[in-house]
Amino acid sequence: CRISRPATDEMDRVFTVAPAAKINLHLEIFGRRPDGWHELRTVYQSIDLRDHLTVEPTRDDELSLVVAPAGAVTDGEDNLVLRAARLVRRRTGCERGARFVLRKRIPVEAGLGGGSADAAAAIVLLRRLWGCDLDAKRMDGLARELGSDVPFFLHGGLALGSGRGDELSELPDPEAFWVVVAVPEVRVPTSEVFARLRPRLTSHRHGGTLDPLAAGLRGRFDWREMTNELEGVVLEGWPEVGGCLRMLRSQDPVHTSMSGSGGACFSVFRDEAAARRASCGLPENWFVHVGTTVPRSSARLEVEALCDGGGR
Ligand code: C5P
Repeated sequence: CRISRPATDEMDRVFTVAPAAKINLHLEIFGRRPDGWHELRTVYQSIDLRDHLTVEPTRDDELSLVVAPAGAVTDGEDNLVLRAARLVRRRTGCERGARFVLRKRIPVEAGLGGGSADAAAAIVLLRRLWGCDLDAKRMDGLARELGSDVPFFLHGGLALGSGRGDELSELPDPEAFWVVVAVPEVRVPTSEVFARLRPRLTSHRHGGTLDPLAAGLRGRFDWREMTNELEGVVLEGWPEVGGCLRMLRSQDPVHTSMSGSGGACFSVFRDEAAARRASCGLPENWFVHVGTTVPRSSARLEVEALCDGGGR
């Protein structure tokens, strides 16, 4: 047991997991579906920027959450960790309590899937803590109820998302590449982006510009094929994101794009030195991360026992 006092009972169980953020290498919108959601096709890729979520049991049936640093994201009922916990309880009939601590590093409402990553992390932690009967298929189902990209975080690596973004096909890991992720000081709500896009969608489009499955299977991307069709709407409503893209593009990257519904933008670089050089010139008030893509084996949500009751 890694904590100082000896573990003697069930109450001394502490588990942790470090969900990795994603970037969208590609995102196409095909149209609005009868259920109101948008049909899309996207290529998700995990990167080495992680939140840390820890859980321990409670003597009562309370669900609680502490966020560090305080205020980084809401710690209220609408935090995706608590929404995930309530959903797991409803679907499994488990009435136990849990106390979460979320160390937040992934920027919020930035298109990096931070909230979704935490929701997926909460599902796998509670499965372990409460011993719920949740196989991979049921966990995927719960994840889809929580958000379009939550299922991706149960898989990680490189994956193709279709439907709402929730129908996943895992793709083989490409060779890792360096990225500079930059988030200007702006929050871009996904629902608002889709609401602004809606009047512009004329009819349901079939096909698309990229065959992402083939692109992913080749393991080497033709970056010229990669686009993000939400960029136009976001650049009109949140010009700071356009400024960010322009600045990133001026640094001679292999590729630059917005991630998801923004405002995070990323550049791809061939090597670490080029990535670090590029990051130096970015404004100090932006969130900037220099790192790499991560393979599925390291993005998968592996639960670590910090303490597993009775010192086991
Ligand atoms: O699923 P998620 O919580 O990420 O979606 C946030 C909002 O974005 C949804 O409430 C919806 O308005 C919009 N959205 C959409 N079509 C998608 C994904 C998201 O309209 N495929």
